[in-house]
Parts: sequence; C-alpha cells; structure tokens
Amino acid sequence: MLNGERKIARPLRWAMVGGGRLSQVGYKHRCGALRDNTAFQLVAGAFDLDPERGRDFGVNIGVDPSRCYPNYQTMFREEARREDGIEVVSIATPNATHFEIAWAALNAGLDVICEKPLFFTSDEVRKVKALAEEKGLIVGVTYGFSGHPLLMQMRAMIAHGEIGDVRIVDLQYTHGFNATDAVDKVSDAQKWRVDPKIAGPTFVLGDISTHTYYISQLVMPHMKIRELLCDRQSFIPSRAPLEDNAFVLMHYENGAVGRLWASSVNAGCMDSQRIRIVGSKASLVWSDSNPSELRYEVQGQPNQTLYRGMPYLDPSANAIERLGALHTEGLTESWANIYLKFAIAIDAKRRGDEKTLAELVYPDIEAGLEGVRWLENCVKSASNGSIWVPFE
Ligand code: NAI
Repeated sequence: MLNGERKIARPLRWAMVGGGRLSQVGYKHRCGALRDNTAFQLVAGAFDLDPERGRDFGVNIGVDPSRCYPNYQTMFREEARREDGIEVVSIATPNATHFEIAWAALNAGLDVICEKPLFFTSDEVRKVKALAEEKGLIVGVTYGFSGHPLLMQMRAMIAHGEIGDVRIVDLQYTHGFNATDAVDKVSDAQKWRVDPKIAGPTFVLGDISTHTYYISQLVMPHMKIRELLCDRQSFIPSRAPLEDNAFVLMHYENGAVGRLWASSVNAGCMDSQRIRIVGSKASLVWSDSNPSELRYEVQGQPNQTLYRGMPYLDPSANAIERLGALHTEGLTESWANIYLKFAIAIDAKRRGDEKTLAELVYPDIEAGLEGVRWLENCVKSASNGSIWVPFE
C-alpha cells in the first residue's frame, strides 16, 4: 500500500508546458504529480499560450513569479542556467505541439511526460525514442486511467490463466458530449480537436480510445494484433474528415477477436470506458465509472465481484492501493499512481537500475508508440474503404 512516503531519494524539480487556467487536463497532471510531495515539486511553468494569463495562473498556484515563463523555449533556456533548474517537464498542450516540445525538452536534458496521442506519426515517435535513448532520458505518456489498481489485478489474473485463453476482447470508450455541434462552436478545446492540423489524423480514436487500447495492452501484454478493420463516421459533417464515431474490429495473432467502439456522439451515455475480456473459462469486466469493482464471471458458477484494496487481490494491485477498501478512490489516485511510476522510472534510469526499469509497469514511450501505430492502422483501413489491413 502507498502512504506518501518517499520512493526516490528526493522529489524531482518539475515544470509544465500548457495545462494553464482554461485547460481541461492541467489540473489532473497536478493532482497526479503533487499527490505525494515526495515525488515531484512544481517549480516552473510555461502554462499558457497567453503569457500574461499563464504567469498570473502560475503565481496563483504558488510558482515563483520569476519562473513563470512566456513560452517553453525561454523556460528551457533560463532553467538550464540555474543550479536548481527543472529536471522533468510535462507537456499538456494540444496534440500538434507535442513533438516539437518533447524534442526541445530532450535536447535540453529533461525527462518528458507527455499527453496522448503522443505524436502524429510513428516515425516521429521512433525519432524521439532514439533521442531519449541517446540522452539517457525517460518519456512517459499520461494514459491517466491506467493507474487504477484493479487493472493490475486483471493483468495478474489473465497472466495466471484464471480466465483461460483469451478469445474475445470487447472495448468501449464513448460519451455523448458532442452529439450536436453546439460545443464545437463555443469551446476552444473542442475546436482544435476537430481540426486535423492540430488534432492530427483522428478525433475520437486518438482523443479517447487510445486510453482504452492502452488498457487492453496493459491487462494482456501477450496479445498482439494481426490485422484490423476500422469504420469511422463524422455524424456532424463539419468534423469531417475527422470521426466522431468509430468501430474497430481486430484479429489477434493467437486467433482471438476484438472490437472497440469509440464515440463522442453516444447521446446520453455517461459510462466512459468499459472493458470485457472473455477467456475460454471465464470473463473479466471493468469500467472506469465503477473502478473499485472487478467482475469475475466463471462459466457455470455464480459471478464474483472483486473489490479494490482487499487482501485476496494480487500483490501488484495492492502495491498501488492508497486509501484502503471502502474508502473511495478514483481518477486522481490513478493519475497519482502513474506519476509516481514516472518518478521511479526517472530515478532508476539515472541510477542505471535496469532491474527496476524492466519490472516497472507504466505507460512508457513504447506504449505511446503502440497507440500511434494503432491510430495509423485505423486511418489506413478507414480511408481505403474500411478494409482489413495487416497491423504494421
Ligand atoms: P485545452 O485546449 O483545454 O488546453 C490547452 C492548454 O495548453 C491551454 O492552457 C493553452 O493555453 C495551452 N497551450 C497551447 N499551446 C501552448 C504552448 N505552445 N505553450 C504553452 N501552453 C500552450 O486542451 P486539453 O483538453 O487540456 O488537452 C491538452 C492535451 O491533453 C491534448 O493532447 C489532449 O489530447 C490531452 N488530454 C488528455 C487527457 C487524459 O486523460 N490524459 C484528458 C484531456 C486531454
């Protein structure tokens, strides 16, 4: 169980690019990174495209005014001159900017924590991966839902054969907030999401279902996709060519089949993510709207509900438990868990501790690469008339 005690020698000096006053995701990063004051300290930021608003915001959340910078270039340059300069930066800006900021950060000697979808192309991810390796730095991806303890339980149960061989993978991340174009007209955060120049080649596939796809990899790392078929639609025509709804069918190398439904036009839906893994003996079902419960359905037996924080769970699940069973945990604890793992990875990398790095399960640059590859294959299939394409 975690209780906030330090896991690394000292907290890392951390900065943010983006994530300012009006941003949707910025506070989630701070909830995660600053949950344990033993992992990160927020010491600087270029929080906003609007320098004045960014500075005002930074000062408001307690950052030294002299370290609230007008842009990331100035921040990286000025902080490099300080003995107590930043060591790691989180990138919480719209998708089109991730690559250039990550590239500059690594070249400035900083470890990087970046939003998803990581970049536009897998070639970009491979370039950044090579640079990070050359510099001895970590790149983490904020798949923020992936720190829920029961996902580690699913991973352990599947690995131990408790559902038998995986046959069917059923994934869903849907909501209805964009059922009309009302939000597209008023929200800056929605406007860029349907602009391919800023969002990249996808809308809902990259925006939401990369989370669910990563979770599927997290719980069944042995399952590799052989081919997929993607059918995507823009129910609000002004969003075309970017999709507000998509279905993806998958064939896995071991003969299993899968489907993923991603949508922002699922009117009235407030479920968010739902994952069902069907094996030859039993199934596991988890949803992020009820993250403390995992359904274990053994064929021919009464269904069981496994509860977070209980001693019968796998040690890997309880290792990231914070509050204990009965005391509600949620998304902020999930973010805190992945941020803590980023800190442990960065610390291990610096100490040359390859054993810790090899054993640590967290969304690293490989996970970011896999997400971008998955999007590339989805777009390739959809733009060729929704045909099966080999997973490249
Ligand atoms: P947003 O549009 O709400 O906020 C973007 C923020 O970045 C604003 O504060 C803006 O001023 C700032 N910004 C933009 N360019 C900048 C630059 N060059 N330098 C400094 N600041 C800059 O966007 P939102 O929804 O917060 O999304 C940001 C990223 O986070 C996207 O990549 C998105 O896909 C991802 N995201 C991830 C979530 C998750 O659960 N991991 C949830 C929501 C978004």
